Amino acid sequence: MNNFVGRFYHITTYGCQMNVHESEKIRAALQSLGMLETNDVNLAKVIVFNTCCVREGAEDRAYNNIVTLQSIKKEDPGKIIAICGCMPQQKKGKYNLAEKLPFVDIIIGTHNINQLAQYVKDYAKTKRRVIEIVDKPKGKMDFNTPVRDDHINAYVNIIYGCDKYCTYCIVPYVRGRETSRPPKEIYEEVKDLVQNQGYKYITLLGQNVNSYGKDLVDTMSFSELLSFLCTIEGDFKIKFMTSHPMDLGDDLIKVMKNEYKVAKTLHLPVQSGSDKVLQKMNRHYNIKHYKSIIRKARKAMPTISLSTDIIVGFPGEDEKDFNQTLKLLKKVKYDQVFAFSYSKRSGTPATEFDGQIEEKEKNLRLNKLLRLQKIIQQDNLKKYFKQTYDCLIQQINGVAVGITDGGKEIYIPGYKYFNQNYFAPVQVEGVRNHKLSGVINDRKR
Ligand code: 5AD
Ligand code: SF4
Repeated sequence: MNNFVGRFYHITTYGCQMNVHESEKIRAALQSLGMLETNDVNLAKVIVFNTCCVREGAEDRAYNNIVTLQSIKKEDPGKIIAICGCMPQQKKGKYNLAEKLPFVDIIIGTHNINQLAQYVKDYAKTKRRVIEIVDKPKGKMDFNTPVRDDHINAYVNIIYGCDKYCTYCIVPYVRGRETSRPPKEIYEEVKDLVQNQGYKYITLLGQNVNSYGKDLVDTMSFSELLSFLCTIEGDFKIKFMTSHPMDLGDDLIKVMKNEYKVAKTLHLPVQSGSDKVLQKMNRHYNIKHYKSIIRKARKAMPTISLSTDIIVGFPGEDEKDFNQTLKLLKKVKYDQVFAFSYSKRSGTPATEFDGQIEEKEKNLRLNKLLRLQKIIQQDNLKKYFKQTYDCLIQQINGVAVGITDGGKEIYIPGYKYFNQNYFAPVQVEGVRNHKLSGVINDRKR
């Protein structure tokens, strides 16, 4: 029996799905000490901040929130405060956390999150601050069976790290080299999630999933991994993120088209519509190539849902470059766009580039792009009419709703008695007030 049994912990998570999933593993680690989760920091004995540093905004938000814990710690010095993840892992971060936040007891990075439960126990015993940032994973990263937030979609890591070194991006510096998990291990995890835990979606995670397997001896490509996972019996679908246009080959499009269990949705960050900017970003593709992937994907899967990431205001981006990005959005008509204003990340090459753009101008461009995308998305609704989408049937406020692979809701009026959580084809019959309605079309499957 340790003195954590029955005590509460609280986790705040910033950043991407990778971090969300890592917090699910931290949760498992703390629960293995007998702890319980609470939403209330005041109740918590252990308070964890799992941080992100991909943009300055995320860092500032986390930092400002952590500062507010100072008074909580003063009131109750028995509380244990820990910071982990990408922010502490930076070599030249904006904040010197250990110095500026003396009331934080444990500061670790991305490679030793798996040791957190041990650090918490050590701190409780010795009251000695733990500040440990290591360059390589300390032991196995899949350290605990994650305690997941969501009961429909489960995240599963397939590859850690990134070797791409896009010139704006801090990720390769804080997440290390690409390291794939063995296929069999992933297979067993997915099988358990689907067959024993009833998950309907499995989302495979990696900074660049298309690099999967390149570092393994008994190698298997990403598309082969997908086919392998599709042999698992059950009514489920597989999603994945994120793909890199440089590595996405025809083999993947073929598997997506042919495997019923691979969801027809693709997140393919383009970052910019200008070849000049893409080259300075070290993205290794041009717009012609990018568009050819989109064309092939749409030809193979006409109803595929497409999304992307865009950075506006990258150093040297002029009006013409920016207009090329707008032109690309009009051409592709994405279902969703995640757009960001360029944020200088210390230690990355782009920080030193000429032609840095003022914050005000970056924001103007960002808003212009978001306004355009909003119009495109409203217009996109037309394309759903009379199309059939394989949907997960769910109940929302007592009404049947089909959720497409891309996450769009199709209301199915008059469908009173129905099973939930199974996949069925839904044909869209109405598009009104930005809402879709349809009928289940079982014959089409
Ligand atoms: N500034 C702005 N956006 C960035 N991203 C990565 N680094 C930066 C940066 N320095 C965006 C990219 C990436 C997404 C996860 O975050 O668009 O695809
Ligand atoms: Fe960052 Fe580029 Fe790697 Fe994505 S591919 S994580 S943007 S370095």
